[in-house]
Amino acid sequence: MTQQLVDNFQRTVRYVRLSITDRCDFRCVYCMSEDMTFLPRSQVLTLEELALVARAFTELGVEKIRLTGGEPLVRRGIEKLVADIGELDGLSDFAMTTNGAGLGKYARALHAGGLNRLNISLDSLDPERFRRLTRTGDLQRVIDGIHAAQDAGFERIKLNAVILRGRNDDEVLDLVNFARRERLDISFIEEMPLGDVSDHSRGETYCSSDDVQRWIETAYSLTPTTETTLGPSRYFVMPDSPVRVGFISPHSHNFCDTCNRVRVTAEGRLLLCLGNEHSVDLREVLRRHPGEIEPLKQRIIDAMPLKPERHHFSTDGDVQIVRFMNMTGG
Ligand code: GTP
Ligand code: 5AD
Ligand code: SF4
Repeated sequence: MTQQLVDNFQRTVRYVRLSITDRCDFRCVYCMSEDMTFLPRSQVLTLEELALVARAFTELGVEKIRLTGGEPLVRRGIEKLVADIGELDGLSDFAMTTNGAGLGKYARALHAGGLNRLNISLDSLDPERFRRLTRTGDLQRVIDGIHAAQDAGFERIKLNAVILRGRNDDEVLDLVNFARRERLDISFIEEMPLGDVSDHSRGETYCSSDDVQRWIETAYSLTPTTETTLGPSRYFVMPDSPVRVGFISPHSHNFCDTCNRVRVTAEGRLLLCLGNEHSVDLREVLRRHPGEIEPLKQRIIDAMPLKPERHHFSTDGDVQIVRFMNMTGG
């Protein structure tokens, strides 16, 4: 039987989020500050190291790998990495979270390489507002990217929308209508207090999923479903559409007791919880024993007791984790 990764709270880790770069072509206001500095290349895991990390986790019972960033599609060689991970035995879900801008270029190669699911961030359908929220993004390019992904054969593409009070909370229904029209699932996310983003105080922009749900229910009835993507989203269905509406509610509906995931940062730190700093250094083992999988697996196994029970995010606006979201891709 495959060895499994179990923490001190009897939670089995089956899902790994692999951040393959801290860089991004966007500067979303809830994710980064305007003047971010990025890691020097030597500190970021190489593509070979990333593929070995992915293999080590699958040999330890992990079934789901999600590539994140920063923005994974700005990493040179992404097609090869996807093809290498796509060949691993034991994966039932191989996914990516992207800002969508690179999909026109890469969607076909990603699909051909074995990636089976895409989550695409989309917080506004208004081009000017989209630009303000992402600081550099071009809405049309992302919409074209979504269409390129559909044409390439991706099914059940999911949109992610972080809702900020006073910024895009008036667009919730428009986003649901867009998702229905385009046959995309959509998850609404409560903003988390990672990094001093300087653009706004998170105490002022906090918007509960319960409010978002109420706004949607003014137009559509939502019925809870037990369908899951093994992530934090709670899904609802509508009577007249195949589209699922999800809520990711770290503040209002804590999901830590069912946590099944860990993440690896771009610099190779195995981070056991998004909302805490407990971690071990995988890069050190990878560079001390190049190409060897057993020492890597042992370090991963040894890290499991460090996984904390839960995060302690609050909505009062204080920065609680100094690390910015782009180090882990969420
Ligand atoms: P699915 O596989 O489609 O369920 O995706 P996912 O929700 O697991 O991943 P995605 O990258 O789309 O993340 C959506 C949001 O969920 C982001 O804001 C992430 O930061 C957040 N998220 C994912 N995992 C965790 C977690 O373990 N803890 C917290 N607090 N947030 C998480
Ligand atoms: N809080 C919640 N979600 C965030 N994301 C980025 N920063 C934050 C934050 N501070 C989202 C992005 C993307 C996913 C990886 O995480 O919108 O969809
Ligand atoms: Fe880039 Fe995603 Fe962060 Fe936006 S949320 S700046 S797209 S990594």
